[in-house]
Amino acid sequence: MSRQYVFTTTYGGPDGEKLTERPVPEPGTGQVTVQVKAAGVNPVDWKIRQGLLGTREPVPVPMGREVAGVVTAVGADVADLTAGDEVLGLVAHGEGGFADHTLLDAADLVAKPEDISFATAALIPVAGTTAYDLTHQIELEEGQSLVILGAGGGVGHLAAQIGRVHQFRVIGVASEGKRELVESTGAVFVAAGAGAADAVRDLLPEGADLLVDLVGGQALRDLAAVAKSPGLIVSAADGDTAVALGGSGREADPESLSKITDVIGYQVITPQVSHTFGLDQAREALALVESGHATGKVIIAP
Ligand SMILES: NC(=O)c1ccc[n+]([C@@H]2O[C@H](COP(=O)([O-])OP(=O)(O)OC[C@H]3O[C@@H](n4cnc5c(N)ncnc54)[C@H](OP(=O)(O)O)[C@@H]3O)[C@@H](O)[C@H]2O)c1
Repeated sequence: MSRQYVFTTTYGGPDGEKLTERPVPEPGTGQVTVQVKAAGVNPVDWKIRQGLLGTREPVPVPMGREVAGVVTAVGADVADLTAGDEVLGLVAHGEGGFADHTLLDAADLVAKPEDISFATAALIPVAGTTAYDLTHQIELEEGQSLVILGAGGGVGHLAAQIGRVHQFRVIGVASEGKRELVESTGAVFVAAGAGAADAVRDLLPEGADLLVDLVGGQALRDLAAVAKSPGLIVSAADGDTAVALGGSGREADPESLSKITDVIGYQVITPQVSHTFGLDQAREALALVESGHATGKVIIAP
């Protein structure tokens, strides 16, 4: 038998979250079964449970979208993968990553680089690709300025590091408790809150060449004017507000998974895992991310 974490009752709060058991899943055509070594916890996990992304999937809904692990079985029409391969990727539709075993579509995974841990690999498919997309959606040149709202979170600290690799001038807006993490990326720290826009303007009187938003809502509206023009705002957190301001939501590039896996595999950037929970602590892991104030990345390691 294999454990998996699901929400069982209805869309809404965490009360229906539950650790269940099922047989180890068999891979369908084009799929592999993976023994999960680590799974990334993301805001999308509680947003799905709350029904913010729709309520059409019947409960129980398995939780967890991104994993790294070891292939244990290979389905029909899968070339180039065998049992024992170490991989990372998004879970297949209807599957969850907070589990001992899950299914991945072979077309949606890449090999785990040898030199990184499973915990680091597990944060690549969602957080890593998002950071990559947001920092490449509008191409900047060396020396141009990148402001990141929510720079101390799972996506933000990666986006800051990517920006520094490209030698952008990076300013990270985050709460005071994340100053050390933000500064460790090579970004200039600006404290979130009422004074943030003025503090950024003091640093960038001409305005920012790109504003990456990982918070949304009023915090984004308050900071939006620091961008040189509204079209230079991109948001993963709140595409609607970004578009209303004249910017855009995240545009996912199918090449991002392999590109950011290479960057992290070569250890050009160093993801920070702040907390690792066991599968039987999935509720605590989700609650930490749902608080909205996670530092770096939260991982579940079954
Ligand atoms: N569209 C997509 O494909 C996609 C993919 C990945 C993520 N996302 C979204 O992107 C957002 C960020 O994801 P994540 O994984 O980085 O989340 P996270 O790890 O929870 O980080 C969010 C960060 O925002 C900070 N924050 C909250 N309120 C703030 C404020 N008013 N001012 C400045 N910082 C504030 C939090 O820390 P402090 O408040 O303590 O500073 C936290 O560090 C989420 O909304 C997520 O759903 C979208």
